[in-house]
Amino acid sequence: MNVLVTGGAGYIGSHTCVELLQSNHNVVVVDNLCNSKREALSRVEKITGRRLAFVQADIRDRNALDAVFSRHPTDAVLHFAGLKAVGESVAQPSRYFENNVLGTKNLIEAMGDHHVKKLVFSSSALVYGSEYAPPLTEDLLPNPGNPYAENKAEIESMLQDLSGADAEWRIRILRYFNPVGAHPSGLIGEDPQGKPNNIMPNITQAAVGRLSFVEVFGNDYPTHDGTGIRDYIHITDLAKGHLSALQRLSKGANVLICNLGTGRGFSVLELISTFEKAASRRIPYQFGPRRPGDVPVLFASCTRAEKALVWRAEKSLFDMCKDSWHWQNMNPGGY
Ligand SMILES: NC(=O)c1ccc[n+]([C@@H]2O[C@H](COP(=O)([O-])OP(=O)(O)OC[C@H]3O[C@@H](n4cnc5c(N)ncnc54)[C@H](O)[C@@H]3O)[C@@H](O)[C@H]2O)c1
Repeated sequence: MNVLVTGGAGYIGSHTCVELLQSNHNVVVVDNLCNSKREALSRVEKITGRRLAFVQADIRDRNALDAVFSRHPTDAVLHFAGLKAVGESVAQPSRYFENNVLGTKNLIEAMGDHHVKKLVFSSSALVYGSEYAPPLTEDLLPNPGNPYAENKAEIESMLQDLSGADAEWRIRILRYFNPVGAHPSGLIGEDPQGKPNNIMPNITQAAVGRLSFVEVFGNDYPTHDGTGIRDYIHITDLAKGHLSALQRLSKGANVLICNLGTGRGFSVLELISTFEKAASRRIPYQFGPRRPGDVPVLFASCTRAEKALVWRAEKSLFDMCKDSWHWQNMNPGGY
């Protein structure tokens, strides 16, 4: 297949490009590099021994998208491009709406005009909000608790309406839980700009001395060790979930929402102690207050993805920690 990957230079996009190229798909990446580096794509080519096409463009730029679709025959789009920092979305809601919601609207209009009607979209477990008890199933009504999660819920709804209006569209909406880890080669991985928001880059940066300690938000949750429990999923398992979704786009419902997680939760302290074993070093940490909106326990029901995508996450928490460490140790300053 000829696959257009928006946001392909980013963390999840770059790992998915590896899987696509290794499965003999042709890849065109569109990315404005606002949160990534071109180097990630050179590394993807190094890992796979294959070339991809790169267009530095913004998905809000309709002329640029038209040029891409005119020049590159496209069968399907994997849409990762977006801003993803929850705190930033609270501070800059209109920027997030403009980039994420209006950017996606622009993309699907360009796709429709160029008769490209196969789409896999990156959504988030954050659309469930904080009210539901796990395991979270896809039929729960979205209950987003911040502007970023609202963007995802609005896009999901727009895609469902689109499918209702035009049955030619084939759409998969994938709700990620907590992607961590890196490609086992250590050549690509998560490389946040500025202070990392997610727990794993905080741990890896503390491991290489870029941060003096990891702040653990809350140790008074009703869990076995007081810290929050999350469903961590290895980035290569997540990337493979996209390939399964792509391969089965023509089968089943026109539009389908699927969780991508492992269905198992681990506490922050379990994550840190597993990392310490994988990296053979101690990780300094300090407890801070709970973050507003955080819930004690979150993990996915994976039944739908297992059935509809014929996909299941395979890698362990130890694999996630080992590969995250390998990446950061080989690239202490990132790309
Ligand atoms: N990483 C996570 O924990 C997580 C969890 C759930 C959902 N997601 C979603 O998955 C997708 C990918 O996340 P990621 O972790 O790889 O993030 P990332 O920031 O590493 O990658 C996103 C990429 O999109 C690009 N981009 C952003 N806005 C753009 C625009 N207007 N035009 C063109 N390119 C643009 C960025 O430069 C970046 O390369 C995002 O939509 C994110 O919301 C991520």
